[in-house]
Amino acid sequence: MDAIELLLQRQSTPVLTEPAPSSADLSTLLSAGMRVPDHGGLKPWHFHVITGDGLQRLSDLFVEASTKDLSSMTGSIGGISIDEHALNEKITKVAKMPFRAPMIIIISTKYVEHNKVPRQEQLVAAACCAQAMQMAAYSLGYGAMWRTGTLAYNETVKQGLDIAEQNDITGFLYVGTPTKVINNKPAKDYQDKVTFWK
Ligand SMILES: Cc1cc2nc3c(=O)[nH]c(=O)nc-3n(C[C@H](O)[C@H](O)[C@H](O)COP(=O)(O)O)c2cc1C
Repeated sequence: MDAIELLLQRQSTPVLTEPAPSSADLSTLLSAGMRVPDHGGLKPWHFHVITGDGLQRLSDLFVEASTKDLSSMTGSIGGISIDEHALNEKITKVAKMPFRAPMIIIISTKYVEHNKVPRQEQLVAAACCAQAMQMAAYSLGYGAMWRTGTLAYNETVKQGLDIAEQNDITGFLYVGTPTKVINNKPAKDYQDKVTFWK
């Protein structure tokens, strides 16, 4: 695929199935992730590649994290009773999340103390990794969707993934094969988003 075509046509694929990227294609994705702009060459990121039984492990971790959070909300809060059935439904929903694709790449920061490169820039670089890997997936004929949600900011999830408290999960990049041909979304007009100084 032509690079400009890729840039102008990239879009997310929410519904994904097998096959996941082959090991050669995964290597391409990870290499694209490493190729991002990186102030100071700090490589302030880490990737977890989750497939196979790893998806079940992630599901178990999501359930553990959500159960911890939600169980503290059962009973009554300010006189309003919390429906345990609704909480169980939430747990069931969370358990299914990792199975929305055959591969999930979790991009997290690995901040480096640096006098010229603030954390904000390191977070942006890690975000570029996610974008680059989505683009690489798309160009290889796979689909991908970048997700976060509350579990990306959950300390139990971070601990389960060995992500230190001071670091951030930048995204869960769901990767797989689209289940159908998706119509290309129309382009977005940039006029209101640009100021020209001439
Ligand atoms: C940091 C970040 C987090 C996101 N988290 C979610 C999410 O949790 N759930 C979701 O439906 N979309 C999420 N999105 C948006 C989707 O990845 C996607 O961009 C959006 O659905 C628009 O579709 P498009 O990429 O085809 O334009 C997130 C995007 C970014 C950049």
